This record gives sequence, structure tokens and C-alpha cells, in this order.
Amino acid sequence: MKIAIINGPNLNLLGKREPDIYGSQSFEAYFEILRKDYPQIELEYFQSNHEGAIIDKLHEFGFSYDGIILNAAAYTHTSIAIADAIKAIQTPVIEVHISDIYKREDFRHISRMEASCIASFVGYGMESYRMAVETFLQNVS
Ligand code: DQA
Repeated sequence: MKIAIINGPNLNLLGKREPDIYGSQSFEAYFEILRKDYPQIELEYFQSNHEGAIIDKLHEFGFSYDGIILNAAAYTHTSIAIADAIKAIQTPVIEVHISDIYKREDFRHISRMEASCIASFVGYGMESYRMAVETFLQNVS
């Protein structure tokens, strides 16, 4: 099974960025744990601060991977283009967020991704990613 994780803008600063909201662990450290916990899965990780680069990766992974886990970060709330890219590909996409976007500022309450994704895990810290991995393990074979 092949699963790709795509992280959007500012998530390269996890561990340093607003630790009261996002925690003190870097994504690279968390990704290593995931890799060790799921040796049977080919896990790929990509992060970009650029909308077009995220769309290019969705296109690249979206016809050969079994699942994509997407944290589009702030683009979640604005990007019709990323939402369209999710609809355009064949691989199912699960939306994740570290913080609970529905308990934060009003502008974060709208997810443009939600309708294009098969599931969302929101507000479980880094473990939102694990929940998405588990969902793919149970539902995609
Ligand atoms: C986020 C929530 C977004 O509102 C925010 O812009 C982010 C991170 C999260 O994982 O909690 O950058 O996607």
C-alpha cells in the first residue's frame, strides 16, 4: 500500500510555529514514528508553501497511490483550485488538521476541501494523521 502525506503552507515550521496550538514536535520527527509504526506501508511525505506545487503533487500521486492525506493548512479555507484537484484525481484523499478549526476563528470554520475528501480528522494533534492512515488501512486494499 502506498500513502502520501501532503502538508501545506507553514507546516514546515511545526515544532517552532505557535507551539501552544500546534505542539512542539516537528513533522519530520512525527513522520519517522509513523514510518516505524507502519513498515508495511510505503509512506511518502511532501510539504510546500505554494498552492501550485501542492496541486502538482496531487496530480503526481493521484493516479498511482492508494491514499493521500492532505493538510492544506490555510489553503483549506480558500483554495477552490486544490479542491478541484482532489476531485480531478482517482486516489481518495483524507483531510486532516492538527488544531480544531471549528473551535478557532470564524474564517477557519469553512473547509473548501471537505466536500472533495472521503473523510476528515480535525483537532487530534499530530494523531489526526495516524487516524487517516488507519482509515486507509481499513478501507483500501
Ligand atoms: C491547520 C489549521 C489551519 O487553519 C491553519 O491555517 C494551518 C494549520 C491545522 O492543521 O490545524 O496552517 O491546517
